[in-house]
Amino acid sequence: AAATVYEAENATVSQGAVESNHRGYTGSGFVNYTNTTGSSVEWTVNAAKAGSASLAIRFANGTSANRPMNITVNGATVAANRAFPGTGAWTTWTTASLTAELKAGANTVKATATTANGGPNVDSLTA
Ligand code: GCU
Ligand code: CA
Repeated sequence: AAATVYEAENATVSQGAVESNHRGYTGSGFVNYTNTTGSSVEWTVNAAKAGSASLAIRFANGTSANRPMNITVNGATVAANRAFPGTGAWTTWTTASLTAELKAGANTVKATATTANGGPNVDSLTA
């Protein structure tokens, strides 16, 4: 099925802020995770049918330190401490991709920072 881009600025943000001060994002901005463990973004992804899907999180990390996050789908961890390494600049965006099982209809996909540095800046989820 065709992939849909779900902007982070339209998702449910816990401990983060929608900002637009680093160019290269899509939509109207990106989410700046608060630099604390547990900051998160949760998207609702609609799947036409159940099955394996590619999830691509577009992010930038202008530091040299990895900003790992746990990725959950419908509350179950599908990637623990997924790496979001430095991208060289806050304006340099790249994608981290994984595969997960979705159910038909609405699914929640959540990316939660696991270190005190918080997550990277997150632009979108394509699923
Ligand atoms: C800078 C940058 C933010 C980023 C933050 C961080 O303040 O402008 O976009 O989120 O660093 O280190 O998390
Ligand atoms: Ca931040």
